[in-house]
Amino acid sequence: MRIVFLASECVPYSKTGGLADVVGALPEALAELGHEVEVLVPRYRMTKPGPVVAGASNVTVPLSAGYKFAAIQQGGVTKGVRHYLVECPELFDRDGLYQTREGKDYPDNAVRFAAFSLASIEFLKRRDTPPGVIHCHDWQTSLAPVYLKKLYARDPFFRETSTVLTIHNLGYQGLFPPDVLPQISLDAGLFSIDGVEFFGQVNLLKGGVLFSDFITTVSHTYASEIQTPEFGYGLDGVLRSRASQLRGILNGADYDAWNPATDNLIPARYTPQKLDGKQVCKKELLLKMGVTAPVLERPVIGIVSRFAAQKGFDLIALATEDLMKMDTYITALGAGEAQYESLFRTLAATYPGKFLLKIGYDNELAHQIEAGADIFLMPSRYEPCGLNQIYSLKYGTVPVVRATGGLDDSIEEFDGASGTGFKFTGYSAGALLDALRKALRTYAQRPAWMRLMQNGMKKDFSWAASARVYSDIYAELGGNSSVAARN
Ligand code: ADP
Ligand code: GLC
Repeated sequence: MRIVFLASECVPYSKTGGLADVVGALPEALAELGHEVEVLVPRYRMTKPGPVVAGASNVTVPLSAGYKFAAIQQGGVTKGVRHYLVECPELFDRDGLYQTREGKDYPDNAVRFAAFSLASIEFLKRRDTPPGVIHCHDWQTSLAPVYLKKLYARDPFFRETSTVLTIHNLGYQGLFPPDVLPQISLDAGLFSIDGVEFFGQVNLLKGGVLFSDFITTVSHTYASEIQTPEFGYGLDGVLRSRASQLRGILNGADYDAWNPATDNLIPARYTPQKLDGKQVCKKELLLKMGVTAPVLERPVIGIVSRFAAQKGFDLIALATEDLMKMDTYITALGAGEAQYESLFRTLAATYPGKFLLKIGYDNELAHQIEAGADIFLMPSRYEPCGLNQIYSLKYGTVPVVRATGGLDDSIEEFDGASGTGFKFTGYSAGALLDALRKALRTYAQRPAWMRLMQNGMKKDFSWAASARVYSDIYAELGGNSSVAARN
């Protein structure tokens, strides 16, 4: 089947978080199953020139705010997946993907991503055959299913095309004032409880939830959580109304990029059978982070994260005193909300040589922390899937996580023999500290720790299994056009 992904980020072209990893890797796993997969993403300033072929096709974007003109460039074919970059400099050639350098959302985000969805649809319409499925991701591309069911409802070209929406994070819904509707080619009639209205605002994600043929999210537990008021961010009722077309599918890991046996971004490679390289990675990491005489017996706790309320760093603030009494290094890499950057900066200034910090986005250092740390900490308030704990397992870096969403689904509590990490349930400093203490006690017992590391390193979270579940969903939606029917 021909499947087209519409997304706002995709490695290697653009990335702010795990969405980019998923949109980079899942299409390859689908192509492996025999699907014809294409990915369309905006071309941002951060998109490196790479193998871009200019001016493949020009489309007029029928936006009511004023027509836009986009060039659809070919980004090349990787492992059977064809990438297209939607270039419209007035909308996408900016410092950030969604925000200014100062962290303020661009005021025209609704128009920017409406234009991206419309440009993609217009581009697809110029092809000889329609896609079987258009697979959208998060609020940025949630308008595509709305347009297909409204603006293009009578267009025979898309009659056989189904839409799937994957929710990667319900905490970001794309909320805009009501006067945005006439700018994004949508009828005022959609501003109702059965449409995109949401507490007096326009909610783009709600549009995606209501108008897609099927909805997925990125773990089984998160699929249940988002149907509750606690995690539903006001959309739990709408999601419950679509429960029979909603499924949780755990993300996979791209082991071509995240594997200590082959990773060229880390100082030494290692495998479960030959772990010496991990000690080299630990030493080099500590040196790089400014520790002059690293004590290699002391455990390193790693953090790599967007600094956002979702990630649970208030627990670190609450636990600081006890945390800093522990005989560990903490290595943190991240950027985001000012309050967390300032919390981490204060910790680094107060505990030099112990709390090691880099503020910013640094893919190489992210890999080096995965490899050089002993423990990886993710105390998330909520976590739809989470990828770093899955990468950590492969790197023999033991996850200590809060049991929520995909963290709960991917990590099993270590019981001395089986299990891959340590989990805590309550959202409290006490619960976090207890789990960390348990991890540190185990770290002190080398045979148990080695076993725990090995358990994690042997786990296989490659994309193949999840891709098959997506493929089954496409097949159910697409009837006869499924891969199975064609083969
Ligand atoms: P989320 O998508 O909520 O940010 P995930 O765990 O799914 O969380 O994915 C985060 C991805 O972004 C991982 O690939 C992680 O390595 C990467 N990442 C997060 N922050 C940084 C950073 N400051 N520098 C480099 N990579 C980062
Ligand atoms: C989101 C979530 C994260 C998930 C990622 C990819 O950004 O916060 O948990 O792993 O999307 O699906």
